[in-house]
This record gives sequence, C-alpha cells and structure tokens, in this order.
Amino acid sequence: MKILAIESSCDETAASVVENGRKVLSNVVASQVAEHKIYGGVVPEIASRRHAEAISGVVAKALEDAGCSLDSIDAVAVTYAPGLIGALLVGVNYAKGLSYAKGLPLVPVHHLRSHIAANYITHQDLKPPFFCLVVSGGNTMMVEVKDYTDFRVIGRTRDDAAGEALDKAARTMGIPYPGGLNMDKLAKDGDSTAFKFPTPKVEGCPYDFSFSGLKTSVINTIHNASQKGEEINKADLGASFMKAVSNCLIKNTEKAMLDTGYKTLVLAGGVSANSVLRHDVEVLCRNHGWKLYLPELSLCGDNAVMVGSQGYYEYLSGNVAGLELNAFAGKSIEENQQSAMV
Ligand code: KG4
Repeated sequence: MKILAIESSCDETAASVVENGRKVLSNVVASQVAEHKIYGGVVPEIASRRHAEAISGVVAKALEDAGCSLDSIDAVAVTYAPGLIGALLVGVNYAKGLSYAKGLPLVPVHHLRSHIAANYITHQDLKPPFFCLVVSGGNTMMVEVKDYTDFRVIGRTRDDAAGEALDKAARTMGIPYPGGLNMDKLAKDGDSTAFKFPTPKVEGCPYDFSFSGLKTSVINTIHNASQKGEEINKADLGASFMKAVSNCLIKNTEKAMLDTGYKTLVLAGGVSANSVLRHDVEVLCRNHGWKLYLPELSLCGDNAVMVGSQGYYEYLSGNVAGLELNAFAGKSIEENQQSAMV
C-alpha cells in the first residue's frame, strides 16, 4: 500500500511516499529555517504563508521522486495535530483536496505519534510494545506504546518542553535559531561540569518534568554575568545546561521503566538528535541491559516519512477521516484519531 504523506505542523513543508509503513519511496522537505532565523524563532503567520506557497511543489516532487502519479497512491495521510494551527490547516486542506479529487482515503496523523514512527523506518524490526521518551520542540512526555495506535502517557512536562527550554536558553546566550541544534554544535567541547544547575522535581508526580525553573536558572546565570561585565564561556554553559536537561529526562525515564517493567526504550522527537541525550540514554540502557532504539539523525526533525509510516498503521486500525476533518493546535496522543472530526 502506497501512502502519500504531508507534514506542515511547524516550519517544514514536507511530503513523502511510503510503502506499507516501512519503505521510503521519497522524502522531500522544504525548510523555512533561513527565514525564521532573522526573527530568532518561528513566526506563525510567516510559516503558514510559506507552507501555502511550497506545498504544491513539495507534493509534486515527492510523487516524482517516488516515480509514481496520484493514480498509484492508495491513501493520503496528513498531520492534523498538534502544531501551529495556521500551518497545520495548510497541510490538512491540501490533503483534503487530494482525497476528494482522487477519491482516496484521508488519514489524520498525530504529530507525536509520527515522531515515534520515525523509528519504524530506521529500525525495520521495531514493533510495539515499548517505552518511548518523546522530546520535541513543543512536547516532552513518556509514553507506553502498547500498540501502533494505542498510547498511554505516563509522564509529561508541567511547563516548558525540553526543546523549548533549550531554544530559549540558546537565544539568551546569543546562539542563533534553531537554538537547540546550534547549542549542541557549539558545546561539543564544552565542560558539562563548569556550571551547576538544579534537577527539578514535580512534588508527588515522579514521572512529570519541569523545565521552566532550569530555563530561568540559565537565563539568570547569563544576566548576572553580563551585569558584572564577566565573559561567559558559551561552550561550557551550553554543555552544562544540556547535561542538566538530559539528567532530568534520564532520571524520570529510568524510574518509569523500572516501575513499569519495560525493557525496550525508544527515543523520538527533534531533541532526540541531541548528542548529550543520545549518549546518556545509551549509558542508561547499557547499565540496565535494556534495548535502545534511536531515530536516525535525518528523521529526528519534522518530515513526512514518519507521517507515512504512522499513517499506514492508522489506516489499518480504521482511523480514516471525512472531509470535515479539522486541524488542532493541541490534542492528546492518546485520543483516537477519529475524534479529529468533532
Ligand atoms: O520535534 P521537533 O522537530 O518539533 C516539534 O515537533 O515540536 O523538534 C524541534 C526541537 C527544537 O526545539 C530544536 O531546537 C530541537 O528540537 N533540536 C535539538 C537538536 N536538534 C533539534 N535540540 C538539541 N540538540 C539538537 N541536536
């Protein structure tokens, strides 16, 4: 079964053709990073407009690269939530148009479910059930993936997502957008013990995360130094901050996996590209004898391959929408996709 997949939840317009959820026939991503860089972050209005301009060309290229026409496509999958609402609407409406014009099933895909599915492409042997740490720009959560379309959230951030905290810290440090990625590069040789940061806890909820205190702490460190006219070593500060974020993620993941008994850990989302986190989850899994699956670096960020993979499993579970499908800025990963219609 060939699925044409579309992704437009943030600042990448992407389309892809994926066969039977696992085989990538094409993968096209048009990034808007250069444009948003000027503003130090994603400007939603600009993102929507760039998606509207790019989407036809990106979809045409994905079909061409896959060597197929719309006539050989069996379904259209599209990211419908969560994300920037104006951006999502561009992809959803384009997918609806294709579905209507060609009589193809329309498959709504949750963005975080698709980030998890990036691992099905990287690791052809990976099958649920497994434990997943989802770390992206807008979300941080620990999820039991009971089946391809059956998810249970067991811990989540109470405030900022890990990626958001990294991006905001990077911005205050004068590191250009995209902050998390550039901080990772800059701090490669930094000393992660140079600055001390707290490991915040959420009282009574050992599985939940809180990153806003950490973020404030690094911002205060920068401001205090600048008020005293002191030069801060950005590589050391970045390395220390990334280590602090990673420590929080590792601590909760270890506890939750021990408590739930899972022995397979999967990492997903944009921040899973982070070198410190990748190293730390490897050490964690080695220490416990757990199996670890990491998405390949090229599939950590937003792309449509992961939408095509998850879309296949959604389709098999009967998660197909009508033309009344809407987009949602926020939606739980646990909700069945059919509720997208109401
Ligand atoms: O998953 P994603 O593409 O966005 C959402 O779907 O929300 O993740 C984007 C986030 C951004 O916060 C970006 O700074 C972060 O992933 N990121 C990284 C790295 N690469 C991307 N953070 C830390 N280290 C990286 N290497």
